[in-house]
Amino acid sequence: LPYLVLAVVAAYLLGSVPFAVLVSRLMRLQDPRSYGSGNPGATNVLRSGNKVAAALTLLGDAAKGWLAVWVALRWGQHPGGSVVPFVMLAVFLGHLYPVFLRFKGGKGVATALGVLLAVQPLLALATVATWLIVAVFLRISSLAALCAAVFAPLFYLFGAGVAWPGNAPIGVAIGLISLLLIYRHRANIERLLAGTEPRIGAGKKARA
Ligand code: G3P
Repeated sequence: LPYLVLAVVAAYLLGSVPFAVLVSRLMRLQDPRSYGSGNPGATNVLRSGNKVAAALTLLGDAAKGWLAVWVALRWGQHPGGSVVPFVMLAVFLGHLYPVFLRFKGGKGVATALGVLLAVQPLLALATVATWLIVAVFLRISSLAALCAAVFAPLFYLFGAGVAWPGNAPIGVAIGLISLLLIYRHRANIERLLAGTEPRIGAGKKARA
């Protein structure tokens, strides 16, 4: 048990590292919490017009999710069971409610992707493909994320035992991550329903 607590706390702290804010500060850009949707995430950093900063945010936020789960997969197996599903949730929750930003974090898209990549690269690929198809055709980042979040647990379920070994606790963790991600997009969902959600490439003034 102390081992589990340690792993969860470490994953939460790693997830708390806010790359949108860090990258923006290092590149002397405005704080992403002050424009656009106000969200500290890659999509909103892109609204600054700086694609490099957005790409670095995406990479950093995905990398921390990947790293936490990768470490847990290698050293997190012990007689009491695996810490992996708890670490998946902890790193994700760190991004959503980071201690370093007074618990006001992002929406978890990049971090969830990193988590999936560590769990099962094929699953991550299918989920990214879902995101891309929606993003390319409809050009709305939040809608793409919401569709990917709906499909990821279904992909995991249907691929379990076929494309990868099924693991119920990991499946539950993926489902919970999707639910939290959707919950964090509730302002986006309202804008989508109102038809006011900005399209990718609309820039800073697209604040609804
Ligand atoms: O990555 C979060 C994305 O799905 C929505 O971001 O800034 O448009 O609320 P944003």
